[in-house]
Amino acid sequence: MKIVINEPLDMHLHLRDKEMLDAIAKLSSFAFSGGVIMPNTVPPITTKELLLDYKIKILNLTVGDQFEPYMTLFFQNYDYDFLNSIKGLIKSIKLYPAGITTNSDGGVDRIDVESLRPTLEAMSELGIILSIHGESNGFVMDREKDFISTYSRLAEAFPKLKIVMEHITTKEAAKILDKYKNLYATITLHHLLITLDDVAGGMLQPHLFCKPIAKRDEDRDALLNLALNAHPKVMFGSDSAPHPQNKKESCGCAAGIFTAPIALQKLAELFDDNNRLDNLEKFVSNNAKNIYNITPTTKKVILEKADFIVPKKYGNVVPMYAGEIIKWSICEVII
Ligand code: NCD
Ligand code: ZN
Repeated sequence: MKIVINEPLDMHLHLRDKEMLDAIAKLSSFAFSGGVIMPNTVPPITTKELLLDYKIKILNLTVGDQFEPYMTLFFQNYDYDFLNSIKGLIKSIKLYPAGITTNSDGGVDRIDVESLRPTLEAMSELGIILSIHGESNGFVMDREKDFISTYSRLAEAFPKLKIVMEHITTKEAAKILDKYKNLYATITLHHLLITLDDVAGGMLQPHLFCKPIAKRDEDRDALLNLALNAHPKVMFGSDSAPHPQNKKESCGCAAGIFTAPIALQKLAELFDDNNRLDNLEKFVSNNAKNIYNITPTTKKVILEKADFIVPKKYGNVVPMYAGEIIKWSICEVII
């Protein structure tokens, strides 16, 4: 059995920089038409120069693949003139609470409507999307749930601003999605598959450790319900976040799961197992096109129900399901 997915999009992707970027960029550009490129590099992407330099590096590395890097800025208070001058180069601005995840120290200390108002009003007027890593700094399992009131405040205060709740992990986030017209969400592959039990229920699994941490069965079920039904306000965003093996298999394991090279295959398996293959293209492409208002160049990815043995490593990065078999593989990419 074969299926065709047109223009798959990864709406939350960490491509890193330097040697890591060199090693992994093509693993996304090969099968995806584009990705929303997260700005939490060191230093973070906060200027036009850094943004352009990063975009050119990505384009040079992925030449021939017709891959569009949808660039993002790292949220700070930016003024209208700056945002106006950069709006053609970015799709969204990513807001991180300070210190909440990998390379987010320069994030926002207090997410308070009034102090963010000038920047968010400018973004709203200029049609720039606000992407948020929505976690409080409370108890790890409650961080996203605790953040829901902040999503509400922002959605109410800026009704014309499109707000994307990035990598949602809870039933509470799934529920609020329909409450506000201007709220959207990305969902990762791993949060559709694992719970905290898989991470820490037996021997600790560093390659399944990420932020936000995987939650409970009922949370995963709420996410599955959105994704498998291709709810029009959710998009696939892998949050593929590679770290070198020694940073994962160490005391002080870095947060992030590397899924870029296995994502489409595993999504096909998951949607097939649930008899929802007909919704896969909406989840990995059409919904994102509508929400982000983008028209990627044509790319057809043909997936086949045939075993794919996941490599144990890609360079020095261990992917999710390393060494295991996924029942679907990519058989052809037509550009
Ligand atoms: C991401 C990373 O490593 O950059 N880590 C993660 O656990 N998801 C950052 C992020 O998206 O939180
Ligand atoms: Zn991320």
